[in-house]
Amino acid sequence: MDIHQDKILILDFGSQYTQLIARRVREAGVYCEIYPWDIEFSRIQAFDAKGIILSGGPESTLSDHRPLAPIEIFNLEIPILGICYGMQTIASQLGGAVENCGKSEFGFAKVRARGHTELLRDIQDEVTSEGYGMLDVWMSHGDRVSVMPPGFKLMASTDSAPIAGIANEDRQIYGLQFHPEVTHTVQGVTIYKRFLYDICGCGSAWTSANIIETSIANVRKQVGNDHVILGLSGGVDSSVVAALLHQAIGTQLTCIFVDNGLLRHQEGDQVMALFDKNMGVKVIRVDAEERFLGKLKGLTDPELKRKAIGNLFIEIFEEEAEKLVDAKWLAQGTIYPDVIESAGASTGKAHLIKSHHNVGGLPDDMKLGLVEPLRELFKDEVRKIGIDLGLSREMVYRHPFPGPGLGVRILGEVKKEFADVLRLADDIFIKELRSYDLYDKVSQAFVVFLPIKSVGVTGDGRRYDHVVSLRAVETIDFMTARWADLPYDFLDHVSRRIMNEIEGISRVVYDISGKPPGTIEWE
Ligand code: XMP
Repeated sequence: MDIHQDKILILDFGSQYTQLIARRVREAGVYCEIYPWDIEFSRIQAFDAKGIILSGGPESTLSDHRPLAPIEIFNLEIPILGICYGMQTIASQLGGAVENCGKSEFGFAKVRARGHTELLRDIQDEVTSEGYGMLDVWMSHGDRVSVMPPGFKLMASTDSAPIAGIANEDRQIYGLQFHPEVTHTVQGVTIYKRFLYDICGCGSAWTSANIIETSIANVRKQVGNDHVILGLSGGVDSSVVAALLHQAIGTQLTCIFVDNGLLRHQEGDQVMALFDKNMGVKVIRVDAEERFLGKLKGLTDPELKRKAIGNLFIEIFEEEAEKLVDAKWLAQGTIYPDVIESAGASTGKAHLIKSHHNVGGLPDDMKLGLVEPLRELFKDEVRKIGIDLGLSREMVYRHPFPGPGLGVRILGEVKKEFADVLRLADDIFIKELRSYDLYDKVSQAFVVFLPIKSVGVTGDGRRYDHVVSLRAVETIDFMTARWADLPYDFLDHVSRRIMNEIEGISRVVYDISGKPPGTIEWE
């Protein structure tokens, strides 16, 4: 079994839905990779795909600087599917024409399927009284195809986009103006499956079980009898790597878990209980709270705090790694979006907003080879294999937690007493989110400690204590986010519990800043 036998290449023209296309393809059991539209043609050839999907994008084919698909792809004699901008560039590059609609179309639309093409044959949500198949779809575009290229026939149309789908069945080139990857397009998955299985001839070997089996075999082959070190943070990615490597190489794996004193309530003990006691993974726990707090003493600037935490982490990790004299490999929880992002960074497409420190961002001079078994996987695939490897749902679907931990959630100087108070407040918030069944409805939630004091009153007494802020956001990609609209009775309950049960907090506020302009973390 070869999980990479049938591959799809997605050329990215910058759509917010590109990763969603990739996930739909993967969910259908077909491996795919995303390449930027301006990648050299030789790389496309070398990838050896069974089909190519051209994504949507924010540009207009009417602009002078329009991104173009490498023209050679149209002679590869493999199926091509263009979505939105992808379809428009097919039309304009192959001799058709595109025009501006005058008014952008954004939202639900009803498309009439025409022409009985292989891509849409017998796929419909309803049939009109005249006998036309209709599809409920999601549209988002400002331009539309006005003239089909020679050799193409009409495949779909709407009132506002009479040419909403085009096909050249001899050359197996298809274009859709609407977005089948968005769940609002009811038959979207069926359309992708038709393209992948029937038109490209792909099988569905890309499954969780096959990925695990292949990764285990690959890791065994890569490291042989050598020893591997892994920095375990308690987050999803490093935990799944630990579980996977444990299955693959058992006692050849040693995890290093640095407790920096900036973790959540009882987190250190939980990590040890799960991996060390329960699963029998070899874990070295380094209690380094004092060293971290020492380094943070007097530091108030967020970037300096991040750097101090990151550098000390590396120092401690190296000290521990050196003790494991025969280790030859370093395992990391790099996942596919990190790979795409750093490719973006190298072409200058990504901006540095905060210097993110990820556990495992270690120097090159460690002279260890890298083992990155999750490098090809999206987060939802990592979660799925985590569950299949026996990790609990609670652990696998945990909200993300930043590398510098509570260090960036205590504003200004970090002190142990602040961290202790914050941990308790955060624990109340998270447990209540779970008990109100709200935890999975928000993407990330936590409490922030504000080093200011506010007057309060309890019983007959006056209080003069610190303020905390609750933060909860909803987001798909963490690049933009909305503050979560949590019910008032829930917020009321959490705020009462925090002020009644935790000494040192006199006031609780709720953060209603979106991103942008706010970031998710406060520092
Ligand atoms: P921001 O605050 O940039 O956060 O809107 C976006 C997401 O990234 C997480 N985050 C970090 N993760 N190291 C990390 O590993 C960091 O330094 C860091 N800073 C922010 C944040 O929790 C959110 O999920």
